[in-house]
Amino acid sequence: MANNVRPETMERITTPELAESFIAEQITALRGQIGDKKVLLALSGGVDSSVVAALLIKAVGKQLTCVHVNHGLLRKGEPEQVIEVFQNQMDANLVYVDAVDRFLDKLAGVADPEKKRKIIGGEFIRVFEEEARKLEGIEFLAQGTIYPDILESGPVKAHHNVGGLPDDMQFELVEPLKFLFKDEVRVVGKALGLPDAMVFRQPFPGPGLGVRCLGAITRDRLEAVRESDAILREEFAKNRLEGKVWQYFTVVPDFKSTGVRENKRSFDWPVIIRAVNTRDAMTATVEDVPFALLQHITARIVNEVPGVNRVLYDLTPKPTGTIEWE
Ligand code: XMP
Repeated sequence: MANNVRPETMERITTPELAESFIAEQITALRGQIGDKKVLLALSGGVDSSVVAALLIKAVGKQLTCVHVNHGLLRKGEPEQVIEVFQNQMDANLVYVDAVDRFLDKLAGVADPEKKRKIIGGEFIRVFEEEARKLEGIEFLAQGTIYPDILESGPVKAHHNVGGLPDDMQFELVEPLKFLFKDEVRVVGKALGLPDAMVFRQPFPGPGLGVRCLGAITRDRLEAVRESDAILREEFAKNRLEGKVWQYFTVVPDFKSTGVRENKRSFDWPVIIRAVNTRDAMTATVEDVPFALLQHITARIVNEVPGVNRVLYDLTPKPTGTIEWE
């Protein structure tokens, strides 16, 4: 489709000045498209949806309603940051939906990775649809589609798409980032004044921590994933690895092993650390994390995360491993 091809004349957005002119053009275009009508956005807090939200707030202010669904599979601090940045600082219309119990109840006992993904994706659409029905007069749906989503290059899923809404809920799409590459989205996000923690965030799969809590998700093991991930991120930031390593996270498998704590045998979960570099997510190499840092992170995780007695480092490149474990 012609309108899905990036114009050859479009300059690559590499500087704050180029970002400013892109923002100015988009504000005009968005006002032209939306007029005085209302627009809805599923705001995950990831880079793309956050940049779309910030652009739309500038262009149409309170005509935008953002819906943030907390499905319980977000990283530590993420829902709070969405509320702080968009509601408190940018004064956006933000609907925060606490759907944690609803998602975790549906996922209880489901171990098959594909079924887990289907439940998370399907439930997300249902929650979003329910919220959309409560709002009057919405005509537009904004999405953080970026150019690689259109090109479908690589295995990074087009996770922004809220397609799948029922027939009586078809909105006109608003996709201001659809010709941008990720690095350009970040330059624009920075120029819009979004915090670095949001703009330079590493990729995070749509099903979130759900694919890192292996097998059937339980609340206690999910907390072990969330807490160990927070420690890993904190230590990588302190040791200047944030922004240098492409993606890093922890995984908690659904088995236990024997350990010893305070002279007693323990039977607890291991935490697996993964840290990889890649250009396009098709292949990946393992980051050579300093051994002393790995030991320090290990000590913190086994001391601070309940139910964990071992830490492992995944040395497998892609191929043969994938980046995620599920
Ligand atoms: P794999 O595990 O296939 O991951 O090597 C490649 C990249 O894609 C991300 N990923 C996902 N992103 N929904 C997403 O939005 C998903 O279901 C999903 N699975 C994997 C992964 O984090 C990595 O960056």
